[in-house]
Amino acid sequence: MLLTPHDRLFVLTGAGISAESGLATFRGSGGLWDGHRVEEVATPEAWEINPALVWRFYSQRRRDALDARPNAAHFALAQIEQRLMQESGNFYLCTQNVDDLHERAGSHRLHHMHGSLFESRCVRCEQPFPDRAFHEDADCLPRCGICGSHVRPHIVWFGEMPLDMDAIYRELNLATVLLVVGTSGSVYPAAGLVHLARARNIRTVYVGPEEPQNADAFSEIVLGPATQVLPSLFS
Ligand code: APR
Repeated sequence: MLLTPHDRLFVLTGAGISAESGLATFRGSGGLWDGHRVEEVATPEAWEINPALVWRFYSQRRRDALDARPNAAHFALAQIEQRLMQESGNFYLCTQNVDDLHERAGSHRLHHMHGSLFESRCVRCEQPFPDRAFHEDADCLPRCGICGSHVRPHIVWFGEMPLDMDAIYRELNLATVLLVVGTSGSVYPAAGLVHLARARNIRTVYVGPEEPQNADAFSEIVLGPATQVLPSLFS
């Protein structure tokens, strides 16, 4: 994929980019939700009914992410960011993933639209703070040090609004190329970004082993695992 100095790259990643680091995707076979139904662990309703189960689930995900290492695809995106930031500053990475593998690969201009696994927030104060603890004891769930309210994972659950959509739309408006990696194109509003891009004549490229559900909206589809495609995509 040749990028000219006038190009501005917007990258959207999904669970597929972390699959080769050993983190299960959501909807693939062996997917993360297989043992747990989505409604049991990743909705505000689940939190109301059983916060201990929700915390057990996200504590396990923290363990899995801590054990994982960034792969060649994460590093390729960090490298293209470094190049474009030096040349023109025309780069933005938006991820649906809550793991920290992009950061650990060296990405900086990064937005976690669905929240972060290693942050929590008080349900009343709403201010996110770093939290790498495992909250697995149902009798000792975390409480806010200031107001005593429950502390929840800083994750965007089903039915909640992704974080800072305004910034995402602003960046997409400036882009000339939208590169989407490893997402099934089934969860909105993330899956709708490609339609917005197409309406603005932005070049839209998908990378992944199979076509996403919103395949029709892409101008190009490169089939293959992210670690095989991304390292040579920009050369
Ligand atoms: N390289 C690239 N893509 C891959 C790879 C790989 N090695 N392996 C699998 N994929 C692709 C699959 O083909 C699939 O299309 O990754 C995609 C994963 O899709 P999902 O499991 O649906 O994950 P994602 O699209 O990120 O889910 C979106 O849904 O559950 C919510 O908030 C959660 O952020 C998540 C959102």
